[in-house]
Amino acid sequence: MNEKILRWALAERVEHLFIMILIPTFIISGLPLFKIELFGWMIIPPITIDLFRDIHKFAAGLYAGLAIFHVLYHTLALRQTRMGISGKDFSDSIAIMKLYTGLSNKKPKIGFHNPTEKLLVYWLVAVLFMLIMGVSGIMLMFPSYFPAWIHEWALVAHDVFFLLITFVVIFHFYMSVVYKEHRPLLDGMFTDGMVPAEYVKEHHPLWYEEVKKKE
Ligand code: HEM
Ligand code: HEM
Repeated sequence: MNEKILRWALAERVEHLFIMILIPTFIISGLPLFKIELFGWMIIPPITIDLFRDIHKFAAGLYAGLAIFHVLYHTLALRQTRMGISGKDFSDSIAIMKLYTGLSNKKPKIGFHNPTEKLLVYWLVAVLFMLIMGVSGIMLMFPSYFPAWIHEWALVAHDVFFLLITFVVIFHFYMSVVYKEHRPLLDGMFTDGMVPAEYVKEHHPLWYEEVKKKE
């Protein structure tokens, strides 16, 4: 029995591919801007610091375009999203953390999303932190339009959230690639979008019930 269930549609997989390239592009092109004393070695002629600046801004343009596509794709009801947050996402996230750290062996009954990924990787990083990066980044781009103190705060915000984003992305990479149990989900995101029904039944029981009811 090799039954499979569609988890991520093609557009969602392509979106993820873009985001997966863009965020490291932001991080890498931001490094020499962040601390030239530490990352000056990245500027090997004919590469200039301005090239890093241009790549950074180009990535920002692409991310904004991707965000617009994302909103239109879901609001035009091409594909339903279950990104809404409820209290259950928080209690399930706590239960999952307890399970992973061995504090409890009670497995929460979850639906389509891994609630921690939804809260941390989607809402916090991909939406909220990136909004903060976008707003503070625009302030850094046009310093003459803002008072010096706002520019300074924008720089602090840009640095703090840069570190937080980097940390969460490393965590996300760990949970999806290094953490063996979640590896069946890699196919869902990186190949044909399908994941084994057995995996869904065990790890996403509420979603499994939903799929079976529709059949
Ligand atoms: C570094 C390489 C990356 C790998 C290997 C990876 C892998 C994955 C996988 C396997 C999934 C599917 C999880 C599932 O089916 O529940 C996923 C979902 C997701 N990834 Fe990544 N990812 C990477 C980078 C990124 C980056 C840089 C971001 C940007 C913040 C990102 C944002 C997301 C989001 C928002 C989801 C959907 C989470 C949800 O279920 O709500 N990923 N990723
Ligand atoms: C989303 C839109 C973004 C925009 C519009 C933007 C724009 C900018 C601009 C204009 C600068 C100043 C460049 C200069 O020195 O002339 C900058 C610096 C920087 N950006 Fe971004 N950025 C964005 C997102 C990000 C993201 C997602 C990251 C990393 C996760 C990042 C990391 C950095 C870093 C580390 C610096 C150096 C800050 C410093 O000088 O201390 N940026 N960004």
